[in-house]
Amino acid sequence: MNEAVSNHRPAGGFPEHFTDVEGWRAEQLTALLDLAQEISGDPTRWFGALPGRLLVNLFYEPSTRTRLSFEIAAKRLGMMVANVSSTGSSVEKGETLEDTFHTVQAMSPDCVVLRHPEPGTAQRLAEVAVPNVHVINAGDGVAAHPSQALLDALTLRQAFGDLGEVRLVMAGDIRHSRVARSAIALFSTLGIAEIRLCGPQAFVPDPARLSAPGSPVRVFEHLEEALEGADAVMMLRIQKERIDDIEIPDRDDYHSKWGLRAEHLERVSSGFKVLHPGPMNRGVEIASEVADGPHSLIRTQVRNGLFTRMALLLALVAGE
Ligand code: CP
Repeated sequence: MNEAVSNHRPAGGFPEHFTDVEGWRAEQLTALLDLAQEISGDPTRWFGALPGRLLVNLFYEPSTRTRLSFEIAAKRLGMMVANVSSTGSSVEKGETLEDTFHTVQAMSPDCVVLRHPEPGTAQRLAEVAVPNVHVINAGDGVAAHPSQALLDALTLRQAFGDLGEVRLVMAGDIRHSRVARSAIALFSTLGIAEIRLCGPQAFVPDPARLSAPGSPVRVFEHLEEALEGADAVMMLRIQKERIDDIEIPDRDDYHSKWGLRAEHLERVSSGFKVLHPGPMNRGVEIASEVADGPHSLIRTQVRNGLFTRMALLLALVAGE
């Protein structure tokens, strides 16, 4: 096994696939974050660690950050990378997801990274993957975006240390957000002190389901109230592409009620942090002066995406 991974290998090793946070134990997720943290200190130490291995990005939805960071992470590790999109491929001729996957799999990849609009698709592929083909979920509908949750957890750990002291606000369209789902699952597993959800009623899932006994999740009616005494906020965009049952709010109206604006940050501590998974809609869920201001960790999140995805590829491929 690669020495880089053996120092961080948890008892029992890592699972074969990364389709959801729920399939991994706390010690495995922590080991992955510890490896990502080590990589962030000097990524060049891991350059070329997986020579000749192959990663295939299989994307059925648009992406900038996730696809690019998996590609750059893999190339930094010395892997070869091939990209397949639903547009411009035989998907447009009616090929099923499974048939496309078996076609890719016949060319012996080590990792297949899937983004797809339908929940559960990454798990479906994991169930038909042959040994040593690792499936990674890069976002499946509203269900999960687990590598985004990892990079967000790394960013919070770097800012605050132990998550046990962190009160995080998650605001905006939580109901249609796979980022929120995976973040809630991961941060709860890592023992975060509090997750405060708030947004328009139609965008916040049923509090009775979320605030189960022992859960760190609480629901707030107003953004100002949720921010009171919080350590950080993660703003979420309106997921228009996944909304078909309610009216999309007017941009200006939404910004004045739910957008994070400079006036909100006048009342927070100097160490308060602002996160956003991207892509941002400036002037809707977040004002430009906040996105680009001193509290913002948005570009750090993107950078950490590279380190967490390098760690994930090392854990899955070098940990075999
Ligand atoms: N955060 C995120 O998933 O961004 P992309 O859609 O650009 O990959």
